Amino acid sequence: MYFHGTSKVNNKGHLEIGGVDTIELANQYGTPLYIYDIALFRERARDFQKTFQNLGVQAQVAYASKAFSSVAMFQLVKEVGLSLDVVSGGELYTALVADFPVERIHFHGNNKSEEELEMAVKNKIGCVVVDNFLELSMLNEICEKHDYMMPVLLRVTPGINAHTHDYILTGQEDSKFGFDLQSGQAHEAMKIAFSASNLDLLGIHCHIGSQIFETTGFKLAAGKLFETLKDWKETEGFEARVVNLGGGFGIRYTKEDTPLPASVYVEEIIADVKAFVTDHALNMPEIWIEPGRSLVGDAGTTIYSVGSKKEIPNIRHYLAVDGGMTDNIRPALYQAKYEAVLANRVNDVADDKVSIAGKCCESGDMLIWDLPLPKANHKDYLAVFCTGAYGYAMANNYNRITRPAVVFVEDGEAQLVIRRESFEDLVRLDVPYQSKSKVTK
Ligand SMILES: Cc1ncc(COP(=O)(O)O)c(C=O)c1O
Repeated sequence: MYFHGTSKVNNKGHLEIGGVDTIELANQYGTPLYIYDIALFRERARDFQKTFQNLGVQAQVAYASKAFSSVAMFQLVKEVGLSLDVVSGGELYTALVADFPVERIHFHGNNKSEEELEMAVKNKIGCVVVDNFLELSMLNEICEKHDYMMPVLLRVTPGINAHTHDYILTGQEDSKFGFDLQSGQAHEAMKIAFSASNLDLLGIHCHIGSQIFETTGFKLAAGKLFETLKDWKETEGFEARVVNLGGGFGIRYTKEDTPLPASVYVEEIIADVKAFVTDHALNMPEIWIEPGRSLVGDAGTTIYSVGSKKEIPNIRHYLAVDGGMTDNIRPALYQAKYEAVLANRVNDVADDKVSIAGKCCESGDMLIWDLPLPKANHKDYLAVFCTGAYGYAMANNYNRITRPAVVFVEDGEAQLVIRRESFEDLVRLDVPYQSKSKVTK
């Protein structure tokens, strides 16, 4: 059994996180319940920050808030000194409510609306990562209107797709994001941004994929970006002050996953970058990264109540829980794999093999297949590990199931940071039907 962070078994045989008994949390806040191990999040953030400090490299580590966003989360991100990457007006609004320092907010997205760009400009955020030509002109116009100079990065697609151990090199990347390098699109965008009246072009950005366990893909991408910058310096006299290498650092969901420590990812990439910069007499730019999953993924655990069972002889044992694809759509969407234990009987022998079903009217609503577990019954609790990233963030109300509560735990204390959605919340946006029927009773 593998425990992350402060997770351990207490003397009652219960799973404890942050010094708090998860069964007591389940009783107090109900299930499904998302629990975040705040000490582990702090450690993950510190690992990235310290590595850059030790290497003497000016850097910003931005939390990719799409992984999990809430007011409390953003306040925590501010407290630990990370920057913040947002991708929508909604995430930006949440950051503003959390009183997040605007100069450390970076705004991403492949189709930002005029309203969203206006919101970014009015609030003088730290940087807009510009994704396309429409955005370049729209943003410059909005900045002119507000007499504001917006720092920008250009998102480019370097032609490297990476996922876990694989990376794919494509001459011309088929992606909805960013300016293509190969066709000259990125160069064109650079010339426009560099000469735009109200854009301060800081440099370039790329993001090559997710759940990446090797440094090869990152190093290839960095190499392409720096080659490009060398070219832009020679041809246009533009020298980047910032290079953003995105997120995508892998985490351990199951024993099949073999991520590297944060320090190794950063050290290996920076070694290549430093060598390139020295060899080509470029100024060392500030390096930005934007991890999401590797900051919050393993800090999150979901507790479910066990409900019904279906045992099909010689075929499969199904065990249903009181959540599923509404609170964690990743298994249904990406065949994502997780490990889990019975939170109230962690030490019991795993003498059964069960497949964990959600409660939605959808056959694909399965959380885990073929999980070794003690024989479980109604009223047992299941703890699914590593659900902190893209879990709650992707929660939905399919079947009008309410979204779970979220608690932060640290030093023996728990605090509710997102309350459980109620049935009243579910109908809050509904507008009653006005009948046009002529039929009267
Ligand atoms: C542009 C960008 N940056 C950062 C991230 C965060 O990736 P991860 O959570 O895998 O670190 C993503 C994820 O989709 C992204 O699209």
